[in-house]
Amino acid sequence: MLGTILRIFYIFIVLASTYSYANTISQQELIELKAEYKRPKDIPYPKYNPYSKEKLELGKLLFFDPRLSASGTQSCATCHNPSFYWSDGMATATGHGHNKLSRKTPSLLNIAWNEVFMWDGRDLTLESQVSLPLRATDEMNTNIKGLLVKLNNIEEYKLLFKKAFPTEEQPISQKSIEKAIATFERSIISEKSPFDDWIEGNEDAISKSAKQGFILFNTKAGCAACHSEWNFTDDSLHDIGLPSQDIGRGKIDKSRINMLHAFKTPGLRNIAKRSPYMHNGSLKSLNDVINHYDSGFIKRKSLSSEISTLNLTQSEKDNLIDFLKTLTSQDRPVALPILPK
Ligand code: HEC
Ligand code: HEC
Repeated sequence: MLGTILRIFYIFIVLASTYSYANTISQQELIELKAEYKRPKDIPYPKYNPYSKEKLELGKLLFFDPRLSASGTQSCATCHNPSFYWSDGMATATGHGHNKLSRKTPSLLNIAWNEVFMWDGRDLTLESQVSLPLRATDEMNTNIKGLLVKLNNIEEYKLLFKKAFPTEEQPISQKSIEKAIATFERSIISEKSPFDDWIEGNEDAISKSAKQGFILFNTKAGCAACHSEWNFTDDSLHDIGLPSQDIGRGKIDKSRINMLHAFKTPGLRNIAKRSPYMHNGSLKSLNDVINHYDSGFIKRKSLSSEISTLNLTQSEKDNLIDFLKTLTSQDRPVALPILPK
């Protein structure tokens, strides 16, 4: 008899604790939280490089044109490949002369909303970023002066640059290449996913487990401290305790201890399709990522104060992964451009 009472009491406690957790945020709090994740309506274009259709179309040609590299075989799209969500599916990139680079190719999804660029945040505009891979001897190894001569010898490009930059005396210049490519890059946007449908009010768009995962992401697991808003990034740099020889931002900013091993927070759109993960591709699956944040990180001086042992249960880990999977959108075919002869 006492055993039965105790068993009933135990079941009551277990149920109560499950429900109290599910209720750690109220209905009203959930509504407010969901509002923070609404997709934006417009793409932000900077004043110094406003949108034009002509610039976008020219930028797309240049982005896919391997003649921009010294070898004539490597375009921006070789590494930022639309089939791999504008990355390359590899742990770290392969550049000029089959050089293995030390960092992973970041996805360019939703890059229009970013304000710092590269894993260590060393570049501050999408326009100035363009020349970094062009010039880098281990990436495209391009002599920009030579490239301008090459493009000037292609009649169709001459025409397209004139149309895109009608007021420039020298329409084919490093500046216009940068502006055109950046304009194209701003059009690379993740499509709507089941998560967005849920945010917009369709309760059936995602599972109960995924909804629980979303709450965990914003509460106990603490992910939203850095992966915030609709694109899931604070556009900032942090050390998340990943083992790596690469000290990231620490190489540039030696004055702040928390910048040692700090890397840029990547957005999480389509993340389930973008393994391997992290700046060095060292984590193979979302399972590995969750275990890293749960208790697998290195405790060191530079570790972000937002990272601490989570003690997640297996079902909480499953909830988080189910939630992350709802960020996957339907593939939209990318029409590859026909390059000027
Ligand atoms: C050899 C492969 C490769 C090629 C070719 C390449 N990239 Fe990248 N890209 C990378 C890697 C690797 C990084 C990260 C490097 C780092 O952080 O040190 C990167 C970073 C970027 C970033 C910053 C993304 C972010 O989230 O901060 C942008 C934008 C970008 N590349 C655009 C381009 C453009 C435009 C071209 C063509 C002109 C290009 N890339 C060519 C591999 C490549
Ligand atoms: C302190 C800020 C911070 C917190 C908290 C945080 N992240 Fe991250 N996240 C980052 C940074 C920075 C990186 C890139 C680190 C690197 O490459 O060295 C990253 C990388 C990732 C990646 C890999 C992305 C890619 O494109 O490779 C995933 C997935 C991820 N985080 C999910 C999560 C989840 C889930 C949580 C909560 C359990 C979480 N993060 C908590 C800052 C954070």
